[in-house]
Amino acid sequence: MPWHLLGAGNLGTLAAFYFGQAGLTVRLATRRRLTLPDGTVHDLQLAGDDNAPITHLVLATKAAQSLDALAPLRARLSADTTLIRLQNGLGSLDGLPPPPPHIIEAVANSGAWREALPGGGEHVHLAAENPTLFGDGHATPPDWFAPLACHWPQLHWRTDIHLQQWLKLSVNAIINPLTALHDCDNGALLTNTALHPRLHALAAEVDQVASQLLPDWPGDTAGRALALARATATNTSSMRADVRAGRVTEIDFINGYLLRAATQLALPLPAHSHIIAAIKALPQKR
Ligand SMILES: NC(=O)c1ccc[n+]([C@@H]2O[C@H](COP(=O)([O-])OP(=O)(O)OC[C@H]3O[C@@H](n4cnc5c(N)ncnc54)[C@H](OP(=O)(O)O)[C@@H]3O)[C@@H](O)[C@H]2O)c1
Repeated sequence: MPWHLLGAGNLGTLAAFYFGQAGLTVRLATRRRLTLPDGTVHDLQLAGDDNAPITHLVLATKAAQSLDALAPLRARLSADTTLIRLQNGLGSLDGLPPPPPHIIEAVANSGAWREALPGGGEHVHLAAENPTLFGDGHATPPDWFAPLACHWPQLHWRTDIHLQQWLKLSVNAIINPLTALHDCDNGALLTNTALHPRLHALAAEVDQVASQLLPDWPGDTAGRALALARATATNTSSMRADVRAGRVTEIDFINGYLLRAATQLALPLPAHSHIIAAIKALPQKR
């Protein structure tokens, strides 16, 4: 029962390490599709991949890359495929053509980054090891989870994974775009009081939506965002890093997901609409 890995970046590399430690085989699923000017389409099978049906897949691309990355693999996926979505944000698999795989959602809190090596290649650094949560709404995890959890520090199965994802999304929807827009460390959200009205407006809108969707929503998103900003005061948020590097951000799957949920409830979110537009107006290289 090999696992395939789609997205061998920071978190994908870390996951592959822990799967390997647990004795689970991990193969890259890096098939690339190339369209030539004459319109012919070529699927390239790169070293490390195989042509087998994919029964177990870890998806660790950035959220915005998910559908493009999965497209060349569609014929190898089925309703029997288990897919761990090891990504920030929500909604990255909306629009995936049927049949849907069995999706295990994840909340990743560890911090990893990549260094380009002078002679080529990359080196992933695990900067902080924090809890990682998996869940699919069922009380009992699949058989492979217990051996994996023996080797993946602080890996937990959560029956309330949807609530946990929203708790993560709620603070990300504040810290990420504010720090990206103002090009500041997370801790500046505490010290720069000029940002507080906007922070509180964003948090109030999150609470307005989440309290309608989740019966156990604890509220106080502003308090949790400020506590996280304090605990990670010298950190650069992933959205700030993406903006600095000119990369596409994950705003469509964080604040954008929130906005889509609010639209279904006919709730206007002016603070989030405004900050989404501001982030999207920033220059992007790719
Ligand atoms: N890094 C962290 O500390 C951390 C912490 C918590 C949550 N997260 C979340 O975890 C997710 C992954 O983040 P990350 O930092 O690991 O991102 P990352 O380092 O950019 O990794 C994404 C990987 O996906 C690859 N990829 C992109 N398009 C692909 C395609 N079409 N086919 C195959 N591979 C493709 C990228 O390759 P190229 O580089 O060649 O494009 C890259 O290796 C994100 O949602 C992020 O927010 C990350």
